[in-house]
Amino acid sequence: MAARLFTATIICGLMFTTVTSVTGCGGDLTAPSGGPVTSPNYPGNYGNNENCEWSITVPEGSIIRLTFDSFYTEYGYDFLTIYDGASDNATEMEELAGYHSQISPIISTSNTLFLMFTSDGSVSRQGFQFNYTSSTAGQCWDPGLPANGDRDNNSNFTSGQTVRYTCMDGYQLRGTANITCQPNGTWSGA
Ligand SMILES: *[C@@H]1O[C@H](CO)[C@@H](O)[C@H](O)[C@H]1NC(C)=O
Ligand SMILES: *[C@@H]1O[C@H](CO)[C@@H](O)[C@H](O)[C@H]1NC(C)=O
Ligand SMILES: *[C@@H]1O[C@H](CO)[C@@H](O)[C@H](O)[C@H]1NC(C)=O
Ligand SMILES: *[C@@H]1O[C@H](CO)[C@@H](O)[C@H](O)[C@H]1NC(C)=O
Ligand SMILES: *[C@@H]1O[C@H](CO)[C@@H](O)[C@H](O)[C@H]1NC(C)=O
Ligand SMILES: *[C@@H]1O[C@H](CO)[C@@H](O)[C@H](O)[C@H]1NC(C)=O
Repeated sequence: MAARLFTATIICGLMFTTVTSVTGCGGDLTAPSGGPVTSPNYPGNYGNNENCEWSITVPEGSIIRLTFDSFYTEYGYDFLTIYDGASDNATEMEELAGYHSQISPIISTSNTLFLMFTSDGSVSRQGFQFNYTSSTAGQCWDPGLPANGDRDNNSNFTSGQTVRYTCMDGYQLRGTANITCQPNGTWSGA
């Protein structure tokens, strides 16, 4: 008897509220959600000696989640540095350079993020594009409902809450059966 299998891939869906286009180099972003934010001249190459600063401020009590569409800079020389706060005095979360086919979402611990992009005097690449969304701290996104399966909890996905997945007869669960909403707004498993 061949077991039928399905994959329960849980996707933390983002809800975009507003989308504002941002051009030029740096800026103060204050909408609850925004993007695409790009490096200068994107999708063309950025210039030499760029120095861009973005500050993102969302409503008090919310956290920020950055999602990248693309990232390509000169490895070792052209950096995007992300700080977990209002300025470059805050804790550095990431220093990105080179080519990344995929970047995991970056999640702040408070309602501000500061980003700095610098390029040196030679060699440029396409740069990067990202969006951001905000959500209430301690609140996870709806983890989704797989086809041919069910979950035991459809209510608020708040910190500490567990959601348990089960499959219909004849189907086998792939992934994690019990996932818990963590304080930083991510789920403990897929
Ligand atoms: C960013 O927003 C743009 C425009 O709404 C959308 O096309 C793109 O898929 C979004 N990218 C990510 C990574 O969320
Ligand atoms: C960063 O820290 C320095 C030294 O502590 C201080 O002088 C400066 O005002 C701070 N800058 C910001 C933007 O908070
Ligand atoms: C769950 O969320 C709904 C609306 O999103 C709200 O009305 C309700 O009070 C929340 N319940 C709890 C237990 O937080
Ligand atoms: C959903 O999870 C919460 C917290 O874990 C729990 O209090 C509540 O009873 C659950 N609801 C259902 C329908 O299982
Ligand atoms: C999931 O949680 C239920 C009850 O909360 C428990 O009986 C079960 O063993 C858990 N399964 C896994 C794989 O942790
Ligand atoms: C969220 O918190 C969990 C548990 O502390 C940790 O394993 C995970 O890396 C964190 N994720 C992010 C994006 O900070």
